[in-house]
Amino acid sequence: MSITPRPTDGTDKPETYQTIVTQLDGLLAGERDPWANSANAAALLFASLPDLNWAGFYFLRGGELVVGPFQGKPACVRIALGRGVCGAAAAGRRTLVVTDVHAFADHIACDAASNSEAVVPIVCDGRLVGVLDLDSPSLGRFDEVDAAGLEQVAARLAAGCDWRLAGIDDF
Ligand code: SME
Repeated sequence: MSITPRPTDGTDKPETYQTIVTQLDGLLAGERDPWANSANAAALLFASLPDLNWAGFYFLRGGELVVGPFQGKPACVRIALGRGVCGAAAAGRRTLVVTDVHAFADHIACDAASNSEAVVPIVCDGRLVGVLDLDSPSLGRFDEVDAAGLEQVAARLAAGCDWRLAGIDDF
């Protein structure tokens, strides 16, 4: 699959997410393995979206968020529900877009290069699976278009995997 990073001016963001969702559908077709599908989703996002330094997943395992497939530098392995941007998004089951992570009191700094962050919960049949997490070295990198696009990605992945195969709590 040929993946072209888009310009950074944001003008074609909706189109970029449309392309990402179409490509993700292709990657998920005929495959329901959570590790395979989330690894490809992380790679697709990191290769397609400009100005990221981390893209990947934390999954709910043993009552806490445990890092899953990602692209970027090594990250914190375990995050308690409610802690950090990831834990807050997971516990509240809501998307969080943080314009400046240094202004988010409970932010967990995995990579000192990160300045803004977007976290989207992954929910399947009403049960929390984990979160999709994107970090950027730029302040204010993520907006409502990113939130909507990433929510589509999370929904496709939630429906496209058999979460029983990944030891996710409640599955
Ligand atoms: N910044 C996150 C931790 C995960 S890393 O960004 C990969 C947080 O505050 O939850």
